Parts: sequence; C-alpha cells; structure tokens
Amino acid sequence: MKIAKFQLENFRNHSHTVIACTDCANVFLGNNGAGKTNIVEGLAYLCVTKSFYAVNDLTALKVGESSFRISGELISDSGNEFSVQISYDGEAGEKRYLLNGKTTQKLSSIIGKFPIVILSPEYSGITFGSPTDRRKFLDFIISQASARYLEDVLEYRRILRQRNRILLDGKSSNGSVTHLLEPWSEGLIEYGSRVVQRRAEFVRDFEPYLSRAYEAIAGEFEKPNSKYLSAVASERLSDADGLRMEYRRLLEESKHEERRVGATLVGPHRDDLLFTLDRMELRRFGSQGQHRTFLIAMKIAEFEFLRALCGETPILILDDVFSELDGQRSGKLIETVSSMGQYFITTTDDRVFPQEFFTEAGNKHVVVKSGSIIREQAAA
Ligand SMILES: Nc1ncnc2c1ncn2[C@@H]1O[C@H](COP(=O)(O)OP(=O)(O)OP(=O)(O)O)[C@@H](O)[C@H]1O
Ligand SMILES: [Mg+2]
Repeated sequence: MKIAKFQLENFRNHSHTVIACTDCANVFLGNNGAGKTNIVEGLAYLCVTKSFYAVNDLTALKVGESSFRISGELISDSGNEFSVQISYDGEAGEKRYLLNGKTTQKLSSIIGKFPIVILSPEYSGITFGSPTDRRKFLDFIISQASARYLEDVLEYRRILRQRNRILLDGKSSNGSVTHLLEPWSEGLIEYGSRVVQRRAEFVRDFEPYLSRAYEAIAGEFEKPNSKYLSAVASERLSDADGLRMEYRRLLEESKHEERRVGATLVGPHRDDLLFTLDRMELRRFGSQGQHRTFLIAMKIAEFEFLRALCGETPILILDDVFSELDGQRSGKLIETVSSMGQYFITTTDDRVFPQEFFTEAGNKHVVVKSGSIIREQAAA
C-alpha cells in the first residue's frame, strides 16, 4: 500500500494541509507543537478510521470548528487505486467513511483493508505498561490480519459487557443471577476460546519475525522472546474443545468470587503477554534503551508479519522515534526502514539523518510550522 497524497481539513491545528507523498521517506520536520504528529495521526484515521492516541474524535477536531475531514489517494501493491475520505461532525458526533465515493456502513469493515504500522512513544506501554496495553497491541495487529478475529473480539467484548452488568446488578441487589448469566456464559466461552486460541497462535507465529527484527536493530547479542499468558490457555491451545472445557471449568471455579466482585474474572480480557530478553523479564529488568529497542523491533516485526499475512505492504509511520536512541541505533533504524518502502517519519531534528539522505532520489523533506507546511523539497 502506498499513499499518493492526502489532505487534512480542520483537523487538530491544521486548517487546510495538502501533502503529496513520495514512495520513499516522507520526513516531517518542525519544532515541538508544530503539528507533525497531527499529520501522521490523520493517516491513521484514513487507514483504520481512528487515532492512535486521541481519547475521542472530538479532541481531534480543530478548536472552534464544527467538522473535520481527511481525504487521501491510496494505491495497493498490485496497482489498484482507492480514494478514501473520513469526516467527523462534532455537533452530531458522527463519523463518516467514504471508500471510492461510497459510504461505509460499518467502520470496522475498513480495518485490515489498508494495513498500517505505527511506531510512536504512545506505544511505550506495550513493554512498560499494563496488560491492557499489550492486549490492545495483540488485538490491533491480529484484527488487521484477520477480519474474523476482529468480529470475534467485538462480539466477546459485547458479551462481556452484558455479563458484567448482570453480575454487578446481582451484587448490588444480592439476588440470584444464575439463570440470567447462563446464556451469556456460553457465548463468553465460545468467543473467548476463539480469541485466546488466535492470540496464542499469533504469538507463536510472530516469534521469528521478532527475533529477526531485534537482531537488525541491536545486533546478535540479546535474544528476545514473548509468551502468551492466560489462565485458560496453557497446553490446551491447539485443541479447541479442550480449550472450551478448560474455560468452562475455570468459570465454574470462579463463580463465587465473580459474584462477590461483580465482574467476570477469567478470559482473554485478563490475559497478558510476557516479554523477555535473554530470559530476563523485560518489564522488570530492561533498561530504557532495551525497552525502546524491543518496541521498535516489535513494530518492524509487525510490519513484516502484516505484509506476509495481508499480502499487502503496510503504511509505516514513525513518530518521534529517535528521542531515546543512541546515534548508532538511530542510524540502524533509518537504514532498516529505508529498505521497507514508503514511510512517514516525524522529527524535531533532521541531523539524525545521514548527510546524503535528502539528496537521495525519492526522499522528501517537509517543514511544518503552526499547522501549515512552510517548505517542502523532494529529491529528484
Ligand atoms: N483540536 C485541536 N485544535 C487545535 N489545535 C490543536 C488541537 N489539538 C492539538 N492542537 C495543537 O496541535 C499542536 C500539537 O501538534 P503535534 O502534536 O502534531 O505537535 P508535534 O509537531 O508533533 O510536536 P512534538 O515535536 O512536540 O511532538 C499543539 O500546539 C496543540 O495546541
Ligand atoms: Mg509529536
């Protein structure tokens, strides 16, 4: 997938910004607060209908305006052209997605059509943060590779919400909820098992991608590893019936506790991903730079994984990636991504790029200031 051009209207601090893209590096340079991240955030809206960090769409609407619009021209690896547009009406709270001029009824159906990989400090939670951050990572990547998985996850979340509501009501009223819970428990087991199984399969398949990417950035001396942690999973993963049985057993076991707490206590919404470097747990023992390197490796691995699975090169976004990297690792990162095709990168300092970088054919330099592009230059 490539982006030929795109434009932002009343999006964040951009009133009207048009960007013609090159097929190689598109570098956005500017001071803090200039509007660089906003530009790549717009790309996330185009590809997956939402931001990678805004809490809601309203915060992305330019202050004082009533609606924003982002539009773009995308070209698939096989040469198919797509015109996409996403708009948000702040008053109605409505988002609308147009694909080749036609309204898309279900926004989730866009996920996976235009695969995207985003490397941003916003994702430092994947290695540093809580299990929620890691589950989001898992769900986002697998959803882009599999529409079926996304449907299962959405259905699982719906069932979980309903079931938790019943448990919470039961807790406050002290009444028996067994008969109300029953049908939801069945759905929970069915969809929960599918989600757990797919996630664990993914973690296994992802392993070689992660090792290769880590080595490319850090060299050979540290070995990364990841493991899916689930109360349900363990050795039963390849056996769907066994997994469901195990899930049922655990749910039965936690029956009293979940009524006491008023929430569902087992299932993929409680699972986690464990990362290690040379068998040491990254979250507890990793240095800042190792965390950073691990995250970058995960994202490069994500890119290669999605490319292989979707049969389409993802759009690659690198937002503010150099801040904690030493010169050598920054250099390696630029070298690595330069061989990956088109990418979008933001920086406050273009000295991290080698001198000849901006004279190499296809690389583009865009200077951003106060929500506008004040200069752009592409090497011929
Ligand atoms: N909804 C909004 N309406 C208007 N301006 C906004 C809105 N949301 C954010 N901004 C402005 O956008 C600017 C931040 O833009 P952005 O995050 O893209 O900066 P940046 O160039 O990436 O900076 P840094 O180098 O610090 O990461 C801030 O000045 C902020 O006030
Ligand atoms: Mg930024």
